[in-house]
Amino acid sequence: MQTFTAIQDVKNYLIALRTKGQSIGFVPTMGALHQGHVSLLERAKRENDISVSSIFVNPLQFNDKNDLEKYPRTLKQDIAKLKSANCDVLFAPEVKEMYPAPVSYGRGVGGEVDLGMLDKVMEGAHRPGHFQGVCSVVKKLFDITEPAKAYFGEKDFQQVAIIKHMVKALNIPVEIIPCPTVREADGLAMSSRNALLTADERKNAPHIYKTLAATKETRGTIPQIKKWVTIQINSNHFMQLEYFEIVNAETLMPLHAVNEAEQVRACITVKMGNVRLIDNIAF
Ligand code: PAJ
Repeated sequence: MQTFTAIQDVKNYLIALRTKGQSIGFVPTMGALHQGHVSLLERAKRENDISVSSIFVNPLQFNDKNDLEKYPRTLKQDIAKLKSANCDVLFAPEVKEMYPAPVSYGRGVGGEVDLGMLDKVMEGAHRPGHFQGVCSVVKKLFDITEPAKAYFGEKDFQQVAIIKHMVKALNIPVEIIPCPTVREADGLAMSSRNALLTADERKNAPHIYKTLAATKETRGTIPQIKKWVTIQINSNHFMQLEYFEIVNAETLMPLHAVNEAEQVRACITVKMGNVRLIDNIAF
């Protein structure tokens, strides 16, 4: 695996490969890698000549300084995981390399896109500015790596919708490939943040997916289902529901009644202590 920390070096390396006609599959990450990330890389390897991964904890997308500081950083182990997954190229820059001039949270640095209502709901409502920070860094990473395809996990369902929107709005020539959520054996969606849970919180955490999955069997109106989920989650001593929404899978607009013709997604965010866990399922 070739590892780069400087933008110009990785650019030059990839330009040479692209000139030879090799296609690039790109997997952006913030590190603390787990099987969810690896599944994206495996798909990128299958569908492209060269697999490129990035590890960069992007300060622009953290609205909470504390969350940014305690975000797990495990570069050594990450490199070992990428090597054993046969990743071809890793780009792991320092903050100064990506943002040479001072930047502040939620302010775009070139990736500004009118996200309309897409970033006003769910994660966007609870973390204003977060998705502008995501768009800024992903746009920059696309400019650096110029991939033919880029792979994103459906675990962050709203992020995928927003990246697709950005790519269309800015005419970026990359195909966005959404990939299914990888779960632990007990159903908990894999997340770098799971490592921050206490042993008791971790034991209780599968209750989120169990509740989410049970909503599919629940007969009732959307307001009734929302009320049921609120009770189920908040009655667990370790959990506090931030939101549960049943939304149109494309527009992400909350629905008030389910219509058979629509693609629908049920999305949830739960706080366990200071850790926010998110999940979603096709509804
Ligand atoms: P990060 O949380 O590290 O996730 C990197 C990619 O892995 C994202 O596309 C995410 O959806 C995917 N992923 C995480 N957990 C997954 C799981 N259990 N199953 C499948 N895929 C999973 O998302 C980000 O980083 C950042 O916002 C980023 C896009 C890198 C921009 O900074």
